[in-house]
Amino acid sequence: MNDSERFKWEAGEAAARLVRSGDLVGLGSGSTVRYFLEALGRELAAGKLVDVSGVPTSKRTEDLARALGIPLVELPAEGVDLAVDGADEISPALDAIKGLGGALAREKIVAAAAHRFVLVADGSKRVERLGERAPVPVEVLSFGWKRTAALLQSLGCEPVLRGGVIEPFATDNGNLVLDCVLEAGFDAPAFAAAADGLPGVLGHGLFLGMAHEALVAGSGGVISLRSPQSP
Ligand code: A5P
Repeated sequence: MNDSERFKWEAGEAAARLVRSGDLVGLGSGSTVRYFLEALGRELAAGKLVDVSGVPTSKRTEDLARALGIPLVELPAEGVDLAVDGADEISPALDAIKGLGGALAREKIVAAAAHRFVLVADGSKRVERLGERAPVPVEVLSFGWKRTAALLQSLGCEPVLRGGVIEPFATDNGNLVLDCVLEAGFDAPAFAAAADGLPGVLGHGLFLGMAHEALVAGSGGVISLRSPQSP
């Protein structure tokens, strides 16, 4: 296992230690969450955790969780106790860009429904300003996507159709993703609000003011970053 994988593993293991018996847990998506799921499955199999169920945020997570013996349920009206998910960028305020795996819409629904939302990542995901490395993925309806792309462009980004026009990437919801390249330090709240208001936009990967904590692993171990809204 190389350093990057080991850091992801450490972050996933640390997140599994937050789960308590009886919890309903939002199960994020991606390669870091995979280690969280493996740890959760292991603790359940060993009987160290009981009566834990999960709400998967993608088909891939659903398949993996099933294979690991994690009981799954639909998202109930009451939400979940804890949600754990990866990130593509994490700012010092714990604002995040998510969705390079394409699961952003379901991830946001579950994160917003969580009493406690925890990001897991290796240290490479920390940035001073959002937009330094990752584009903002925007899930759009395929109907009229070129018009939606033009509207996004008018907000100051360079939208790129994920997968290309010949064989575009399709989300689990059957929609397209436009990856919006923005300048580092762009006005994330303004972009998020404007994008939310566009017809054709079903969701975007800006998770602003949502995370309560980030477990970030690096050569010095796992550090916990807390946001002011942390419960
Ligand atoms: C999935 O849609 C994403 O939001 C992932 O959570 C994010 O891309 C981080 O994934 P990795 O843990 O694989 O880097």
